[in-house]
Amino acid sequence: MTERTTDDRQGGADADVIVLGSGLAGLTTALALAPLRVLLVTKTPSLYGGSSLLAQGGIAACVSEDDSTAEHAADTVMAGAGLCNAEVAQGVTAEGPDAVAFLERHGVIFDRDATGCLLLGIEGAHGKHRILHAGGDAAGRHVIAALAKAVQDAEHITLHNSTMAVDLAFGQGSLCGLWAVGADAVCRPFRSPALVLATGGSGALWPATSNPPEATADGLAMAARQAAVLADLEFAQFHPTTLLTDQAASGRLPLLSEALRGAGALLVDGDGRRFMVDEHPLAELAPRDVVARAVWRRRQRGEDIRLDLRPALAKRGVSGFPQAVAACRAAGFDPMAEAVPVTPALHYHMGGVLTDARGRSSLPGLWACGEVATTGLHGANRLASNSLLEAVVFGRRVAEDILSSERHDVLESDLPVPELPARGASTLCLELQSALRALMGQALGVERSAPELEAAIARLQELQDRLPAPLPGRESAADAAEIRTWLETRNMLLTARLIALAALQREESRGAHFRRDFPMTRESWSHHIALTLSDLTASNEGPPLYASG
Ligand code: SIN
Repeated sequence: MTERTTDDRQGGADADVIVLGSGLAGLTTALALAPLRVLLVTKTPSLYGGSSLLAQGGIAACVSEDDSTAEHAADTVMAGAGLCNAEVAQGVTAEGPDAVAFLERHGVIFDRDATGCLLLGIEGAHGKHRILHAGGDAAGRHVIAALAKAVQDAEHITLHNSTMAVDLAFGQGSLCGLWAVGADAVCRPFRSPALVLATGGSGALWPATSNPPEATADGLAMAARQAAVLADLEFAQFHPTTLLTDQAASGRLPLLSEALRGAGALLVDGDGRRFMVDEHPLAELAPRDVVARAVWRRRQRGEDIRLDLRPALAKRGVSGFPQAVAACRAAGFDPMAEAVPVTPALHYHMGGVLTDARGRSSLPGLWACGEVATTGLHGANRLASNSLLEAVVFGRRVAEDILSSERHDVLESDLPVPELPARGASTLCLELQSALRALMGQALGVERSAPELEAAIARLQELQDRLPAPLPGRESAADAAEIRTWLETRNMLLTARLIALAALQREESRGAHFRRDFPMTRESWSHHIALTLSDLTASNEGPPLYASG
């Protein structure tokens, strides 16, 4: 890998492919694209950032003799509540063992027992033990460390870190590159005929999330601005058990992995009584939305809901859950002596840039994979630990598709120059972000309703109107951090408005989307909502809100 500091003041660089984002999907795609020249562009200062790094549960794959990929696919489709693409689910689960082998070839060491057999965990809505772990609950760290090393050793990849994407550039009907701002605050064009969005999810839009602060929906918003088709935006999954601590301003809460409940951890109310047994036959291992709602409703009533980790720690030892134990201790709890307080928090956005089974978006030259994409695998509710699997499978599919596609030259003509903020925009932007998060918590939480959603849409428009206006031209007086804050705020506002519109449109409850005013699943809604930017514009002009369905 060539590591570039962005000191070439005239412009960025040319490449066969730009990969935007350095989580598992981005790293996999970049590696699998060899021997093409790849620019890996990421806003984080190193490859150790993003949500994949924080993944605890592991990777779901059928690797044991008493399991089958058909059962894994069936569990995936069941969790997806009628909106999975069954063919995609069958294909991805069938590629599971190969995805695991790919990770092992790149140096990932999965946990095994004393006899050398893979230690397989179970999580909510899985019918079989099929979750592979690495370092106990530190799968994300182990996987990212191995792939980051492979990327660093790869000659065909040039890394531009601390580089914040501004906008995609299109010319003559096809993608021709990207504008991005480096650590020196200079905005440069990066030219390429192919770009892969692997920018992750949108957790930072919510007031409580297991995601890192960089999950600001950048790729989704950039694709939206170019009129890409987006789908399933209303489906945002809440993890039932994040540790209730004093939240950081970003809203990030430590995850207490579902693997803990898979190993016997129990949810208890203020009287120490297990309540999930009354809610679902699978109790603590019920589908994630069921557990999240049960916890949320009790917390709304003022109950103190806790997770008792002790049965899981007795079974697997502290070394099975080093991250969970460290997080509890850091927050002042002793998980060996007491049950710890938990709350649901936004964990994974099923919606995103609509792709086909090769990862192609609706825009020529633009692919998407990982959490930013909606491939049809997750439907209305992702099955736990299917996202690392999807990142590897689709990262490799995207690379294969690009490698086998006809190659186009980089367009030489000038790219339209984007607008950037003036100095001093950050204070207002941070204010807008915190108002946005509060709205998302009120109107787009575990339960939703039309009056709350309508009020949120109106209020989000007001926030949008207050976003500091940009300056025309390539130069901005603001520094890199200010520019990033402004760009992230712009991306968050656009994405929030699109999510709210989709959530208002879906007048039923399904998977992760629960409408208090429509609590039942409705057969007439067994289809996806696809939106583009023009639907948002149409909604500002008054009813009817939607053309697409
Ligand atoms: C967890 O460890 O509970 C999260 C796993 C996942 O969301 O895939």
